[in-house]
Amino acid sequence: MIKSLDLRYLKHFYLYAKNYKKPAFLGLIMMPLSIACNLLFPWLIIQVIDTKLMAGQLGGLYTLIFWMIIVLCINYLADSFYSYFLRKTGQLSVFEMRSALFRRILRLPRTYFDKTPTGVSLSRLTSDLESIGESFVLGVISLIKDSINTLAVLLFMFFINWKLALVVLVIFPPIIYLTQYVRNKLRAQYLITRSALAQGTGFLQECLLGVKTVQLYGAEQEVEQQYREHTNDFMQAQLITNKYDATLFSIITGITSITIALIIWYGAERVQQGAISLGILIAFINMLEKIFVPLRDFTSQIASIQRSFAAFEHIEELFIEPLEEDGRSLLLPVDIKERMSSFSSLRFDKVSFRYNELSPYVLKDVSFNLKKGEQVAMVGRTGSGKSTVMRLMNKIYMDYEGSILLNEIELSQIPKESMLHLFSLMQQDVFLFEENIHFNISLGNNAISDEAVIDAARYVYAQDFIMELPGCYNFLLANNGGNLSAGQSQLISFARAIAQGGQVVLLDEATSSVDSITEELIQKAIGRLFNEKTVIAIAHRLSTIRKSDQILVMAEGEIVERGNHQTLLALRGIYAGLLEDAADIEGDSLINIQ
Ligand SMILES: Nc1ncnc2c1ncn2[C@@H]1O[C@H](COP(=O)(O)OP(=O)(O)OP(=O)(O)O)[C@@H](O)[C@H]1O
Ligand SMILES: [Mg+2]
Repeated sequence: MIKSLDLRYLKHFYLYAKNYKKPAFLGLIMMPLSIACNLLFPWLIIQVIDTKLMAGQLGGLYTLIFWMIIVLCINYLADSFYSYFLRKTGQLSVFEMRSALFRRILRLPRTYFDKTPTGVSLSRLTSDLESIGESFVLGVISLIKDSINTLAVLLFMFFINWKLALVVLVIFPPIIYLTQYVRNKLRAQYLITRSALAQGTGFLQECLLGVKTVQLYGAEQEVEQQYREHTNDFMQAQLITNKYDATLFSIITGITSITIALIIWYGAERVQQGAISLGILIAFINMLEKIFVPLRDFTSQIASIQRSFAAFEHIEELFIEPLEEDGRSLLLPVDIKERMSSFSSLRFDKVSFRYNELSPYVLKDVSFNLKKGEQVAMVGRTGSGKSTVMRLMNKIYMDYEGSILLNEIELSQIPKESMLHLFSLMQQDVFLFEENIHFNISLGNNAISDEAVIDAARYVYAQDFIMELPGCYNFLLANNGGNLSAGQSQLISFARAIAQGGQVVLLDEATSSVDSITEELIQKAIGRLFNEKTVIAIAHRLSTIRKSDQILVMAEGEIVERGNHQTLLALRGIYAGLLEDAADIEGDSLINIQ
């Protein structure tokens, strides 16, 4: 019935459930109580009919009826407490599991996010876990409870009258065969349902993120059509599931009625012959209900267990997805703490890199050297690999070829947590959270004081515009900085990099153009950085980087020219060409830029 894989899921779930033994225990002790009531009630029926009504001795009848009511009440109470406490255990455990899964997703490597749409992870964290919380605990435990209950009632039947019990037993093999058959069918469908749902959610999420673009280009109909295609698989699988569910339900209800008829037909004759008492016959009919209701629910329980197992299968995939630094040989943070306390040098030595085995190399034999206090700038046309160099420095991607030495230690051997404090990164694609300005600069890091946040804003000349906003640092940003201008968003992102306080500033300048006043502020801030810090800058505004000690010109993943501004200009190569292009765009002459 339960496969070894399913057992693994049970074990995994137990990891989280074991913190909630108390509600689980309270729920579980209701189980024997409920089963005892299930047996006591038919026994009381026999007593009432045979020893009181049929025997014509009405003394004590009301006491027995009173006990029947008590047993019924206890039965209902036990059942409701049982379901309340187990549901509670399930929800609490799922809460733990969700936190653990989220913690894990946050630590997954960038390659995972490259290949997985955000919506897929989202639906793992929401609907998959929900379905486990809803159906797993109650499903599995109820299945066990119902099995024990059915077995107990059956034994009790044999104990009272084995011939009548045999009649009931005849219907078991077809029912077991049927449920087994449907179980397999349902599981396959649930897997399809869940992955189709995840894909659909992924698509939805992307569309909602890009809804402004969709509306702007009037692409609503196409997007809607695509969504319908995405959800079609989901709907088909659900329809098939429904069909199996309904068929099974009606077949089992049918079998129940036929068995009751059989028992009445066979039993009535035996009652007339005096072989069994009327009390026994009525008790049997009552017990049949007790067997058939669980038997019928068996299928829906199995369905919900299948659903939760399918959800589990998806969640397990995430739990076994290797973490960022899993399986890599790393030096111990304590051993290199001293050497990572301050930045002294960074050396790229013949570094080649590709994003995955199928894609072409985007960096080829890249070599350069950066010492404390120096500034290196990277220029080159779009897609030439500049941002990739920065991603490697930050260990966002780790499988590079060649050698990257940070303070003379191979980067791949340095645990990320030991080196990230050295770098402050200003990303090319500015991302702002729907929080206030303060949070967006400090990123919620308590180690960054309020003064440090303000200092950082001052450093990049963002203070003035922030003070003009309603609420200043408490001004709440809309979706990804929707209520700021592009330039202001860049300044916030710039302040964020400075607030991180790293000794080396990695500056991946955004390409989006900004108004001339903000532009000027950004230029001023970058100029200040170049005078005071160790900087690696990717600049699209070439005027910014003229003062760099070294300018690396990249083309198709290679460094094709290097030197300072003057030497590169004298070379009259690609750099000079880029300058000329920039001058053309700005309507300036090359002479002016010089
Ligand atoms: N996550 C990724 N997966 C696969 N390929 C990628 C990924 N990111 C970038 N690339 C590819 O790597 C190449 C270099 O990209 P990179 O972002 O380093 O360019 P860039 O020089 O920073 O360009 P830009 O000036 O436009 O910012 C490009 O051809 C790009 O298509
Ligand atoms: Mg880039």
